[in-house]
Amino acid sequence: MSKLMDSIFSKAQSLQKHIVLAEGEEERIVDAAKKIVDRKIATITLLGNVEVIRGKLGVKYNNIEVIDPNSSDKTTEYVNLLVELRKNKGMTVEMASELVKNPLYFGALMLKNNDADGMVAGAINSTGNVLRPALQIIKAKAGVKTVSSCFVMTMPENSAGSAYGADGVLIFADCAVNPNPTAEQLVDIAIASADSAKKIAGIKEPKVALLSFSTKGSAKHELADKVINAAKLIKENVPELLCDGELQADAALVASVGKLKAPNSKIAGYANVLVFPDLQSGNISYKLVQRLAGAEAIGPLCQGFAKPVNDLSRGCNADDIVGVVAMTAMQCAE
Ligand code: ACO
Repeated sequence: MSKLMDSIFSKAQSLQKHIVLAEGEEERIVDAAKKIVDRKIATITLLGNVEVIRGKLGVKYNNIEVIDPNSSDKTTEYVNLLVELRKNKGMTVEMASELVKNPLYFGALMLKNNDADGMVAGAINSTGNVLRPALQIIKAKAGVKTVSSCFVMTMPENSAGSAYGADGVLIFADCAVNPNPTAEQLVDIAIASADSAKKIAGIKEPKVALLSFSTKGSAKHELADKVINAAKLIKENVPELLCDGELQADAALVASVGKLKAPNSKIAGYANVLVFPDLQSGNISYKLVQRLAGAEAIGPLCQGFAKPVNDLSRGCNADDIVGVVAMTAMQCAE
């Protein structure tokens, strides 16, 4: 385990936040809940059939709360809350009564009602199904328009990659949420990712590169124009953010290439936060670096929700879930 994950676990232990795991009947989730409680990383509520989950937990874990969204005494309160929140979108009592039985909606309503601090799901649900209730109910925090996500990429020590970023630690964004962000959304992603770089990855001075297939006008194309516009908006509106674009990945990361292709840039060659122009490039890149370079890919970590909700990969194991819960606890502290 990386030093970074070690420090995330210690922080979570000191915070003792209350995290909801919406897929409570799933074996990997139950195993993770046990590990989390054993290691005192967070307080856990599991959602699902009480008998089934208690059977899997065993008597030793009576300290883990289990709630069945089909028979909870909170149901009426949550139905009313959901109707109140979504009535301008046509939400009726009948519709809300059905939706609260879905643990992903029930969990989001727990957060909205201040009955829990954070939620993690996605071991058996798609990213879209995990994020949609959170986007509808919890929404972005004040001052944030775009919820996005990032990965903390930690390169293996002494590998070629460990020379890049902040001693081999880099933020990749957005690799999981926004399929085709506008220039304005790229600005939001850049700001949120610099914040996550500091608060989650411990990168003292985030240096953001807006990536493209073009460096400083080397190619002319509308796809590069979007990135150029985002860089312009950042210069105008967020001048304090250390950011530059459009840059190719080698110009962003390798000092000699950065000097050659973007000699006037303070970021080129030294970037530690990589913002991709769209979800195809972001998602493909993090998986390639993880698989081909052996990087540890911690995430996806959602950024910008009013209360933290994080999505798991469906291929995750119990230890991955424990890690995401610890990071969610850390985000609760913000
Ligand atoms: N930030 C803030 N609000 C948003 C965002 C966003 N990024 N996206 C949607 N919303 C809001 C909408 O405005 C809407 O609000 P409203 O209903 O109050 O008006 C609400 O969220 C729901 O929006 P929809 O348009 O109904 O939701 P959509 O169907 O677009 O789903 C989602 C949003 C789920 C994020 C979608 O964009 C998506 O599926 N993204 C890709 C997810 C994915 O498959 N990732 C790759 C796999 S992950 C991995 O490999 C690690």
